[in-house]
Amino acid sequence: MTPTPSDKHWSRELEVARAAAEEAAGILLARDGADEIREKEGRADLVTRVDEASERAIAARIRATFPDDAIVAEEFSGEARSAGRRWVVDPIDGTMNFVHGHPFACISIAFVDDDNPAVGVVQAPFLGEVYHAVRGSGAYLNGEPIRVSSVEHWSHSLLATGFPFKGTKGDPETYFRLVAQTVSETHGVRRAGAAALDLAYVAAGRLDGYFEIGLSPWDVAAGILLVQEAGGIATGWPGDHQPPIDTGRILATNGRIHDRLSRTVVGYIPPL
Ligand code: IPD
Repeated sequence: MTPTPSDKHWSRELEVARAAAEEAAGILLARDGADEIREKEGRADLVTRVDEASERAIAARIRATFPDDAIVAEEFSGEARSAGRRWVVDPIDGTMNFVHGHPFACISIAFVDDDNPAVGVVQAPFLGEVYHAVRGSGAYLNGEPIRVSSVEHWSHSLLATGFPFKGTKGDPETYFRLVAQTVSETHGVRRAGAAALDLAYVAAGRLDGYFEIGLSPWDVAAGILLVQEAGGIATGWPGDHQPPIDTGRILATNGRIHDRLSRTVVGYIPPL
């Protein structure tokens, strides 16, 4: 369906994203098929029947209103589209947590126009949290505005990352040395297991920064907008020429510690 001028604030896209995330949240909470698990790229990369049911429900909602838009999604509805109107969907971010009953898992839905995310919804059903952002209109948690933290000093910052496990993140030993340095210089580094929610936590000021490589567009698209709309910065790694949604390499911070994080990571992992 062709957008009309009244859609300029992406209100219909937001409505569809929120309704789709809400329906998917019900599917995650029901856990019907959570024990039907397959390995994708090895023992630490799983998909369950719930991932598939969630993605099917989200895709159906999107197609019912925007049949001409592309859907770029983790499991099977994917089209490798990197331009034009598209929806970038992770039906469960943090599938490993979901399988183990760890509550740090979410649904991530972004609407992306030619260049950047314009709408982002991250819903964490086991935490009772729904984050949303619309380009130019701020970021919200359960309807309340959120802001990034005001922590100024690297040594007082709390960070998050994801550890290499799929063989797509370079040399694990190098990455662990980077994590060891950041742990020793800051208040600490968390590894909770859902990139979209890590980004939402930066947006909500619960984390001061987040860094990871080897991600997919659906892991980061909605979260990037949350961080930006909450007053933070989300970039690629230093020297990258493509945006993080294309490279899967992301640094996201409250803005104040961004330079310091950039200088730290580049010493370990070179530009693409
Ligand atoms: C994973 C999570 C995890 C990150 C992985 C992602 P998935 O997403 O976001 O935190 O470290 O790289 O693949 O596979 O659970 O959707």
